Amino acid sequence: MHERCVIITGANSGIGKAAAIQFASKGYTVIMACRNLEISKTAQTEIIKTANNRNVHLMEVDMSSFHSIRSFCTHFINKFEKADILIHNAAYFNHGEKYQLSPDQIELTFATNVFGPFLMTALLLDPLKKSDDARILFAGSNIIKHFFNEKTEIHFDNLQGEYKDSRSHWVYKMYCQSKMA
Ligand SMILES: NC(=O)c1ccc[n+]([C@@H]2O[C@H](COP(=O)([O-])OP(=O)(O)OC[C@H]3O[C@@H](n4cnc5c(N)ncnc54)[C@H](OP(=O)(O)O)[C@@H]3O)[C@@H](O)[C@H]2O)c1
Repeated sequence: MHERCVIITGANSGIGKAAAIQFASKGYTVIMACRNLEISKTAQTEIIKTANNRNVHLMEVDMSSFHSIRSFCTHFINKFEKADILIHNAAYFNHGEKYQLSPDQIELTFATNVFGPFLMTALLLDPLKKSDDARILFAGSNIIKHFFNEKTEIHFDNLQGEYKDSRSHWVYKMYCQSKMA
């Protein structure tokens, strides 16, 4: 079990941190892929102590930025031989926020919850293929039940700011759509 490696995005809090503790307790090498190293350092120290496992590494990534994801993946591939599990846990959901674009000009919810994880998965396929039992997991949500209504659809025409000033924006709706995507 000591040879197994799991990458968890947003592992500094909530479900991601709880998962990191569980994997570290079972002897996995855990990569905490987090955007804020300063606040995440405290979580890393706590996970190492709680799980009694020193193989808990903190690496920087902003899941809303393609540049940051590319940099993370390059560093990961240079440092680690393989990845057994990739968990896309980090997510953007800020109640009341206005329509925002990522550094790559993609609506921020979709950039963080969909396109970022998609790019990261693609860039990590080689280390994942080196595992004898690789897994790629997405933190979903029970809100996708709304999508069993056939009238519900993803608004693909407004993912790059096309109607950001003319259509009403509701972050919750974007979040639901991103989880379905
Ligand atoms: N909690 C629930 O009831 C619930 C229900 C359904 C689904 N989920 C899903 O479960 C997952 C975890 O939820 P949670 O409640 O544990 O959330 P949380 O405690 O708010 O944690 C979210 C994590 O995502 C990170 N994050 C956000 N944007 C990021 C970015 N651009 N780059 C890198 N990291 C980023 C946050 O980092 P910072 O600390 O730097 O902000 C934080 O570590 C999410 O995918 C969420 O949609 C949760």
